[in-house]
Amino acid sequence: MIPANYIGSEEARAAWQVISHGRLSGFLGGELRGGPQVVRLENLWAEKFHVKHAIACNSATSGLLASCMACGMNREMTSPWEVLVPSFTMSATAAVPKFLGARLAFGDCDPVYFQLDDHLWLDWPTRLRGFDAVIVTNLFGHPANLRTIKRLCDNEGVYLIEDNAQGILAKEGSSYAGTVGDIGVFSLNVHKSIHAGEGGMCVTDDAGLAERLRRCINHGELAGAADVGLNLRMTEYTAAIAIEQLAKLERITALNIEQARAISHIARRWEWLTPPAERRGASHVYYCWAAKADRRALDRDLLVKALAAEGYPFVAGYADPLYRLPAFGQAAAKCPVAERLHDEEMVLFENTLYWLSSKQLMGLEDALIKINHHIKRLQTP
Ligand SMILES: Cc1ncc(COP(=O)(O)O)c(C=O)c1O
Repeated sequence: MIPANYIGSEEARAAWQVISHGRLSGFLGGELRGGPQVVRLENLWAEKFHVKHAIACNSATSGLLASCMACGMNREMTSPWEVLVPSFTMSATAAVPKFLGARLAFGDCDPVYFQLDDHLWLDWPTRLRGFDAVIVTNLFGHPANLRTIKRLCDNEGVYLIEDNAQGILAKEGSSYAGTVGDIGVFSLNVHKSIHAGEGGMCVTDDAGLAERLRRCINHGELAGAADVGLNLRMTEYTAAIAIEQLAKLERITALNIEQARAISHIARRWEWLTPPAERRGASHVYYCWAAKADRRALDRDLLVKALAAEGYPFVAGYADPLYRLPAFGQAAAKCPVAERLHDEEMVLFENTLYWLSSKQLMGLEDALIKINHHIKRLQTP
């Protein structure tokens, strides 16, 4: 399978131009803005996503850290922040508030779209009361139920931070994912649909949060800020590459969506495989193609092995529900949907990472026909 690669001569030229000038970073400790490439990327990003402020940093993890700090979370709080995070997400979503000394509550995900569970909202006022922040992930490129979550957070005076590392260009109604919460965080790491090796971007419409984000990213203490900042800064050549990638974003996303839909079209034929769903009013950009295998019909792990034997690198599950990881120390937590998805049902294709030719798509169709033929042997004992 060919690894997807949209880094080309445009990125090489842009990076070389920066390198040939010799000024690889334009930041000075304590200043709010970086060098010309970083400033240009931030301006283009703000324009593209219709936000007032875009603040570049060196990873989404750094962006989440700066976001939590900008909202007021820090290790010296007399009473730790209470933060609701999804259990089914990449670890950075929860690692950052944990690192800042917050107490975490892990939310389960819904069994259809795999986002932080809407049913939580039914008795929401009691659930959210006492929380200081919710960090929600737009997982696999599908937006969480952002409007509802934002409204409920606003009712209770709770910050909403969107971990939009996987959801660039996804939409919730007419808004881009990442722009509904108080702050949204994007990733430009090598696995994402556009990337610069590493990199991140925070967006917000709130001028106060924007300034605090900038101070967290670049040693605000030097400019007299009440809290210390860090060095989470983006280099000039990273920004130059990211500018070229941003120009390709629509095209790359359209190809990712087309490929995922082609896989769904093939998978839909089999009642034992449910392709990813798209909520009404939301648009999915298919960072990953995440389907569900019917446990009653066949053993998910054997299905993934059979697909691998045919040359298709599907993955069993996504990530262990985070509370199971020793670092979070909450082994007693329980999110039955996330556990069932990860342990028994989810079949995942890292859609952004591969280019499938039409011949390979036809081959996938044949592989599934073959698997169906042998389905009795793949049945759960
Ligand atoms: C949902 C999610 N959040 C955060 C991150 C962290 O991104 P970065 O590697 O840019 O720090 C990732 C990276 O894969 C992610 O998928």
